[in-house]
Amino acid sequence: MNVEAFSHLFHSYAATFPQSDMIRLKIAHTGRVVENARRIMQSSAFPNVWKGAGEIAAWLHDVGRFKQFCKYQTFSDSKSINHALLSCSEILQNDWLEACSPDCRDVILKAVAYHNLKTLPPDLDAHEAAVINLVRDADKLDIFTLLEQAVTSGYLAEHPEVYWGLPFTAPLSQKVAQAIESALPVDYKDIQSFADFVFIQVAWCNGGLYFPASCALTLERKCIPFRCDYLCSILPKREHETVKRCCAIAEAALVRKANHGA
Ligand SMILES: [Fe+2]
Repeated sequence: MNVEAFSHLFHSYAATFPQSDMIRLKIAHTGRVVENARRIMQSSAFPNVWKGAGEIAAWLHDVGRFKQFCKYQTFSDSKSINHALLSCSEILQNDWLEACSPDCRDVILKAVAYHNLKTLPPDLDAHEAAVINLVRDADKLDIFTLLEQAVTSGYLAEHPEVYWGLPFTAPLSQKVAQAIESALPVDYKDIQSFADFVFIQVAWCNGGLYFPASCALTLERKCIPFRCDYLCSILPKREHETVKRCCAIAEAALVRKANHGA
């Protein structure tokens, strides 16, 4: 299995779509997800024999995004199609995994198919849990980066499709805040405002990252302080206490897991 070939394969495939800001965004996203996955694999007790599968799954996890955007002009799955399953169908139709062993093919397809699930099935083997969670963590780490870039570049104002066209000035959802405080996954249907869209990333930091190395990277990149400051800058004062309380809970959870893996 030639892992390097997947970089070429990914870029050649992406180049077949009409190039736009949104398509370029997804190409750059995948490159950074692969970088994140490599960093997690280097610093975690990640099973050596599955590192190739981990990197391939990272390259392929979002290939369905290109057809999704071309056909529906949105990255919102609820308004179009499940992009993770579309990625799997592209992988299979193009026979991209034909050189992989059946076990390897199976775990890569699962990692792609499950990368956007709220919760994973409970019956995963250890190697499946490692590869699947690698892609999920690496993806989340780059979603953090994407939001920060979009905020600091002023890009958001022109591209509401990045945040699913949600109302920018609507208040926080109490259900999202409660999920953060209880370390529970956020139900995507509770995301009703742009602030919720940002807040869900705070929720990921309290129990949503699998590898201690992912938590360490999140702390190193100061993801929580950025969101805390940003949310306070766009929300009315009465919401600040909730924001600060949830951010403090999430930061403490990251420190615990980064240091102790718990
Ligand atoms: Fe995705």
